[in-house]
Amino acid sequence: MRKRSHLKMLIGGSLLAALILSLMFGGCARKPKRLAQAGDVTEAAVSTYVAPGDMDEYYLFYSGGHSGNVYVAGVPSMRHITTIPVFTPYPGVGYGFDKQTKDMLGGYTWGDAHHTALSETNGDYDGRWLFINDNANNRVARIDLRDFKTKQIIGPIPNVSGNHGSSFVTPNTEYVLVASRFSIPLPRHTYAPIEQYATIYKGVVGALAVDPKTGQMSVAWEILMPPFNYDLGDAGKGASGGWAFWTCYNSERATGKLEVTSTQRDRDYIAAVNWKNAEQAIKSGKFKTMDGVKVIDPKEAPGVVYLMPCSKSPHGVDVSPDGKYIIGSGKLQSITTAFNIEKIQNAVQTKNFTGDEDGIPVLKYEAIKDAEINVGLGPLHTQFDDQGYAYTSLFVESAIAKWKLGTWEVVDKIPVAYNIGHLTAAEGDTMHPKGKYLVALNKLSHGRHLSVGPSQPESSQLINISGEKMKLIYDAFTEPEPHYAQMILASKLKPIEVYAKEDNKDPNAIWDVKDTKVERSGNNVKVKMTAVRSSFEPNKVEVNQGDHVTIYLTNIEQTTDELHGFGLADYDINVVVDPGETKTIDFVANKPGVFPYYCTNFCSALHQEMQGYLLVKPKGGASVARAKTASPAAGGAE
Ligand code: CUA
Repeated sequence: MRKRSHLKMLIGGSLLAALILSLMFGGCARKPKRLAQAGDVTEAAVSTYVAPGDMDEYYLFYSGGHSGNVYVAGVPSMRHITTIPVFTPYPGVGYGFDKQTKDMLGGYTWGDAHHTALSETNGDYDGRWLFINDNANNRVARIDLRDFKTKQIIGPIPNVSGNHGSSFVTPNTEYVLVASRFSIPLPRHTYAPIEQYATIYKGVVGALAVDPKTGQMSVAWEILMPPFNYDLGDAGKGASGGWAFWTCYNSERATGKLEVTSTQRDRDYIAAVNWKNAEQAIKSGKFKTMDGVKVIDPKEAPGVVYLMPCSKSPHGVDVSPDGKYIIGSGKLQSITTAFNIEKIQNAVQTKNFTGDEDGIPVLKYEAIKDAEINVGLGPLHTQFDDQGYAYTSLFVESAIAKWKLGTWEVVDKIPVAYNIGHLTAAEGDTMHPKGKYLVALNKLSHGRHLSVGPSQPESSQLINISGEKMKLIYDAFTEPEPHYAQMILASKLKPIEVYAKEDNKDPNAIWDVKDTKVERSGNNVKVKMTAVRSSFEPNKVEVNQGDHVTIYLTNIEQTTDELHGFGLADYDINVVVDPGETKTIDFVANKPGVFPYYCTNFCSALHQEMQGYLLVKPKGGASVARAKTASPAAGGAE
């Protein structure tokens, strides 16, 4: 185990060198003391214990990073409840095998799910949808919290490259925000040598419009930006309503070894976008169309975007619950800066600029900041409680600092294990945070669990923030890799437990075993199939080799928890149908022979009997004994 004293390093070298070393080595592995007294342990145990049959107070939605999933846990128990597959096929629930979800995945088998964004009404979570971005393939997904299923994946979003600064919603979910982490020549698929990075390559920030009724996303507009790396964002609210903010590093416009080349300047920026003005610019035709998207060039549309100088290499930007303060944290400094929206607007009006970047005015730092808060080493992200306190994660220091908005005093600090990235407080990024709970999303777990070999999980620590002092009350572990998470009051969600028959709009759904059928038209075979305890109807499907087979499978149950699965051997097909759900299974029967299909979800005492056969007659048919049957399949096929 590495042990490094920051103090020694600070004495021996520059602060920057110490910070870079700490970043490289994952910071100090200073082990926080185990809860000292038995009293604390009892208190922690009682405060996190959810008795069998009882429910948690909050849902916690974790991003699953490059697993492409979203994980759902309960707080305070921290128990994992379910996994929602988003950007990656997930056999457990048959995701990515039926036609609907396969089409939605668009041929991709992975995504890098980063930042959850619960939909909002008036700046508070409304429990309707959860959005999440794909940092790898420039997409955003929408999960419906009525059934916890991914309903839409939009993208690759044109012109955006490495959609990391996403997905953040505006206070009434007018928009989901997107941004380029990796500037490239535009439009995508344009070639320009890397030597032209500073002049030809471009970043983009933009917005997806969200249909207020259906949640359907569409690309609304984008803004051409200098070739910086747009990192993280947050939407303004309250006093800063109508604004959106993104941090960006590499204002050096450097290439190559960025850990050196992009850390030369003392300040980078937060891009401040006035999205009401962006809407106005689009209305008055101040855009050009690039790859089908309305793109604003800030040179042609003054008033749309400004740059706020910020601590070097910033990561997080977070807006306080009232919208007054914009908190920007530079990961290579020990302070975090509170900018004041009134001062920002004043500087905009009085043109208090110190220069520009590609025509985008740079606001004067001294004129827009309210305070620099000495939170500690490597500040990343900030969350808020209901008492006017802010909580900033400190990656290098492996700690969380608690400080007061307005007075800026740091009042408490708690070590975490280890190297915290994001953190999330109960409804902690809304206009009305709930306080009480804070979860530290740590990058390293360093063996605070039974050993599972070198591939260690991440650790998430639950912290009680209801008192003056923060108290660590639970260690939990997650699969890779929670980048962000959000906590919403469980009472705000009203999930359904079955798909009501009358709500099933699939034209191929059938509800009675007598309506099952096999229809042939040329080489196309359509099967309407039911699943109900404990059989599939039809329980045999006969086709010819090369036929294009489409099975519309309806689970005709209306009983909670009665799922059925459809696993088809050798054809790589695995679908799950929830009660009242219809899914489409689409494949070409290119392998001759006899293939069993069976129910994969344990459904009844006779679950094991729930099976059938796909019979694929070979082309020519010479090697197979022919058995004429009177089934509809045979009738159509012969
Ligand atoms: Cu149906 Cu097991």
